[in-house]
Amino acid sequence: MKILVVGGSGFLGWEVVRVGLAAGHDVVATYYGNPVRGGAVGGGAVGGGAVGGGAPGGGAGAVGVEWRRVDVRSREGTVALGTAVRPDVIVNAAYRQSDWATTAAGGAHVGLAAAAAGARLVHVSSDVVFSGAAPSYDETALPDPITPYGAAKAAAETAIAAMAPDAAIVRTSLIVGPGLVGPGLVGPGVVGEGESQHERFLHRLAADPSRGVLFTDDIRCPVHVTDLASALLELAAHPGVHHVAGPDAVSRHELGVLIGRRDGVPTDHLPTGRRAELGPPAPLDVRLDCTATQAKLTTRLRGARTFLAPRPPGERPHWPGRR
Ligand SMILES: NC(=O)c1ccc[n+]([C@@H]2O[C@H](COP(=O)([O-])OP(=O)(O)OC[C@H]3O[C@@H](n4cnc5c(N)ncnc54)[C@H](OP(=O)(O)O)[C@@H]3O)[C@@H](O)[C@H]2O)c1
Repeated sequence: MKILVVGGSGFLGWEVVRVGLAAGHDVVATYYGNPVRGGAVGGGAVGGGAVGGGAPGGGAGAVGVEWRRVDVRSREGTVALGTAVRPDVIVNAAYRQSDWATTAAGGAHVGLAAAAAGARLVHVSSDVVFSGAAPSYDETALPDPITPYGAAKAAAETAIAAMAPDAAIVRTSLIVGPGLVGPGLVGPGVVGEGESQHERFLHRLAADPSRGVLFTDDIRCPVHVTDLASALLELAAHPGVHHVAGPDAVSRHELGVLIGRRDGVPTDHLPTGRRAELGPPAPLDVRLDCTATQAKLTTRLRGARTFLAPRPPGERPHWPGRR
């Protein structure tokens, strides 16, 4: 199968690349501002060339990935990419949280590209399309966003469902695990091995508690990045709306404690707070019910309390810079 990963240079997109390669698929991946290069990921050319080297997930190498640059804000450029690559499946993991043109219009443009190329689209959406007013949300729930980011994700879902009715629209929650991190975190202008934004935040906060707080009233259902990437590829065969998140609903504080305990970081003095009092307006408690989606998957969606279990003594994380 030929897979086009739009946003392959991002945290989730890279894991989709890695899982797709490991499964023996042909993978074409895109970047926008951050070409994937540097020792941690592979030193090959980017921009139509093949990139070789190891993968952040520690599994299959990235040999054979063809990289292309695309700006999903461009309708013509995005459709031209689809018709040039002619993939069987497009996975869209591209977004920019504060940018409607990328997240909403860009999602629609990838939908057009899938329709033009005759490809199945797997579009990554988010639990942020929900307000949190309901106790939980299953796959039939309609979006009721309360933030601009949530509105942009909901708009993309609506446009894609209209123009690519065979698309799989996959809402997910906080994504945790090893993967690509952007330039500046590994080295100037270099994208390389790292860990999720949630793990990096915990380690920054543990080192300097003045850098923020962990909310005790902000509840989500974190998912492991490899579980999510595997599920996305499986769901290419299942049109419709799907929910892919872990079964454990945890607060940002509990998530931080789980990460800290796994990594041997003291968690007793992590600063806490309540989003309802301190944070900008955002959904507080959003729990995705994934029962119907899990029944379609062979991938088992693990909960945070499982995939963040403390490491056995002596086992080290595989990424550089963390001890
Ligand atoms: N991370 C989470 O906890 C979380 C939670 C819920 C849902 N999600 C969803 O998961 C998806 C992936 O998130 P992520 O954390 O992996 O994001 P990320 O690491 O920030 O990656 C974003 C990707 O989008 C690309 N991109 C940005 N602007 C673009 C443009 N104008 N044209 C083309 N590509 C562009 C980036 O390319 P460059 O870096 O090369 O510019 C990068 O490959 C998103 O749909 C997000 O809403 C994430």
